[in-house]
Amino acid sequence: SDQSAFETDVWTLTRFVIETGRQAKGATGELTQLINAMLTAIKAISSAVRKAGLAHLQGLAGAVNVTGDDVKKLDVLSNDLVINMLQASYSTCCMVSEENKELIVTPQEKRGKYVVCFDPLDGSSNIDCLASIGTIFAIYKRISEGEPTEKDALQQGNNIVCAGYALYGSATLVALSTGAGVNFFTLDPGVGEFILTERSVRIKPKGKIYSLNEGYAKYFHPPSMNTSNTRKEYLITKSFHSDDGSSPYGARYVGSMVSDIHRTIAYGGIFMYPANEKSPKGKLRLLYECNPIAFIIEGYWTFSLNRSTRVPFVVGSPDDVNGTCPSSRSSH
Ligand code: AHM
Ligand code: MG
Repeated sequence: SDQSAFETDVWTLTRFVIETGRQAKGATGELTQLINAMLTAIKAISSAVRKAGLAHLQGLAGAVNVTGDDVKKLDVLSNDLVINMLQASYSTCCMVSEENKELIVTPQEKRGKYVVCFDPLDGSSNIDCLASIGTIFAIYKRISEGEPTEKDALQQGNNIVCAGYALYGSATLVALSTGAGVNFFTLDPGVGEFILTERSVRIKPKGKIYSLNEGYAKYFHPPSMNTSNTRKEYLITKSFHSDDGSSPYGARYVGSMVSDIHRTIAYGGIFMYPANEKSPKGKLRLLYECNPIAFIIEGYWTFSLNRSTRVPFVVGSPDDVNGTCPSSRSSH
């Protein structure tokens, strides 16, 4: 019958989080509450993203965010959703968002022991053309006592307790890692739950795709930036066009980090946002973008930073990252 096609003992993300929380020694359930609140925000953002065109959510909100980019209405809405859901979970003491200049301090009566750094809607240049966009987050334990401070949010990436991203693509997917591998969960819109669809995903040793904004090629290697890093990144790009008889790599670049990263994890290959003459430190932000992604892919990251730190970023299949450019890992 039709009904027998229904799985009756599925691993939902909620169940997965509760179960993992139960197994953790000394766990109080606070992280479980936090992650569940984040998932609720993600489901709401997903719904808003799907309705954006219809609900006239597109367009400029008239404000400019901390990093000077145009802020779309959907960004503001996503930001509000994440902040409100997380504060209501009684598990955070403060947060930083790509959309807020100031530290977001949780009202005293709702405070818990975690700190969240997030980009509520990354890839905003893709909103109006309906290409995939995403949410990225990293969770830390607070380190201050008393009033929460910026220090709580500016911890090194290797202190991350849990990191994840949501991809609003042809389906809505969440990738989540607590340091022991990454799992993929796909939203079943009928049930309103994320279902475990891939466990302990490993990135292929070598891929066939390279991904970067090659339009900046002429800025990659100016004489003024003749550092080993920029030179190396220039050479990486060239190596994918090599005529040594090997078949060429395919080029893919959405310009939405979550999208490009998810493809890199799913299919293998390499994603790069090198420094260039126009963005001498790269464009991607360590706090909201690179730290969480590096944690998801490799399980560690060791950078100290401030709010606006940007870094050149290279991730992907180990052979593509190491083989083609031996020292790019240490340049992370
Ligand atoms: P955003 O936070 O304004 O959306 O910018 C971040 C995005 C990333 O998702 C993406 O990897 C990158 O910017 C693309 O930048 P570019 O257009 O310079 O290639
Ligand atoms: Mg953004």
